Amino acid sequence: MLCILGESGSGKSVTLRALMKLLPKYARVTGGIEVAGRDVQAMNEGQLQDFRGSDVAMIFQEPMTALDPVFTIGQQIAETVVRHEGSSRAAGMARALDCSSWCRSPRRSAGWRPIRMSSRAASGSGR
Ligand SMILES: Nc1ncnc2c1ncn2[C@@H]1O[C@H](COP(=O)(O)OP(=O)(O)OP(=O)(O)O)[C@@H](O)[C@H]1O
Ligand SMILES: [Mg+2]
Repeated sequence: MLCILGESGSGKSVTLRALMKLLPKYARVTGGIEVAGRDVQAMNEGQLQDFRGSDVAMIFQEPMTALDPVFTIGQQIAETVVRHEGSSRAAGMARALDCSSWCRSPRRSAGWRPIRMSSRAASGSGR
């Protein structure tokens, strides 16, 4: 595991976005970017979808935009498992419950939409 440390504004997020080819179209990237011997700039959209979330992943800083407010937390975790491991939706949901085991009531929390989790955390009523 590689860890990048740096003061605020030093370019950690920009570097990681470049590494995952997630910079906006108007961004100019010079030089090459290789991850585990693979040229990221040369990957097409399908290859990038396989690469992101399995070879390299990012925990986005802004919780308000990192999760889709329309889908439940369980559905969003399950989607990643189904996409990258070829699991069934039921197996994906089982993993989502596993991932929520730190919650007081995993089954209930996995069925929540993100706003409910964040408002609970903010009010101190969630764990
Ligand atoms: N290589 C770069 N080329 C052009 N602009 C850059 C580059 N790296 C960083 N910046 C600029 O600096 C700003 C801050 O960078 P970034 O958000 O990546 O910092 P950070 O290290 O993630 O900070 P924080 O710890 O606060 O999240 C970016 O929004 C961008 O405008
Ligand atoms: Mg950052």
